[in-house]
Amino acid sequence: MTQALFISFEGIDGAGKSSHVEGLAKAFQEQGRAVTVTREPGGTPLAEKLRTLALNDPMDPLTEALLMFAARRDHLAQVIEPALARGDVVLCDRFTDATFAYQGGGRGFDWEVLAQLEQWVQSKPTRGLRQPDITLLFDLDPAIAAQRLAGARVPDKFESQPTEFFARVAHGYDQRVAQDPARFARIDADQAREAVWADVLAAIRRKGWLP
Ligand code: TYD
Repeated sequence: MTQALFISFEGIDGAGKSSHVEGLAKAFQEQGRAVTVTREPGGTPLAEKLRTLALNDPMDPLTEALLMFAARRDHLAQVIEPALARGDVVLCDRFTDATFAYQGGGRGFDWEVLAQLEQWVQSKPTRGLRQPDITLLFDLDPAIAAQRLAGARVPDKFESQPTEFFARVAHGYDQRVAQDPARFARIDADQAREAVWADVLAAIRRKGWLP
């Protein structure tokens, strides 16, 4: 069986990651790979309901973190683990790094509690934690991201946060990279779309996962 792959996409709102998820799905499909495209919070009927609550209703930071991990648990059990067991390429628009960045960095919620929830939710039956094989982190200055978001659509609870919030989110991502640098590929998102795409492709090719 071909090697299952778990690839996550991360970055602050406005960094433009989502448009490259579809591009990468197509590139893998052209190689004959089965691809599961999904997102967090969400990816299952239950997790999508939790997404609607988490992205719209005011709540305290622990409630928010618990909803993110509850959604993740259902998503892992129903979609991600079965897809990986089949040997799929799983492309996930955000995963746990977003919880550390947004709830930990942005909201200032306790990093250690998040690490405990991560252990509970992502422990594999055999041993170790389920983590992406690679995380593409789209880097963009929060001020530029704010300009890109302005007027684009009706903002949700996070998108309407001030630039300082996103500076803290970016710092949260940096902390996650520092804890596990080998898992991350940083993508400079302050470039033309084609140049960003070329960097995405290069990061996956360096791993030997695409020709
Ligand atoms: P996003 O991925 O940007 O989707 P869209 O482009 O459709 O809006 O939206 C998800 C939002 O949820 C984003 O603002 C980040 C936030 N989020 C968290 O706060 N914690 C998490 O654990 C995850 C997965 C997302």
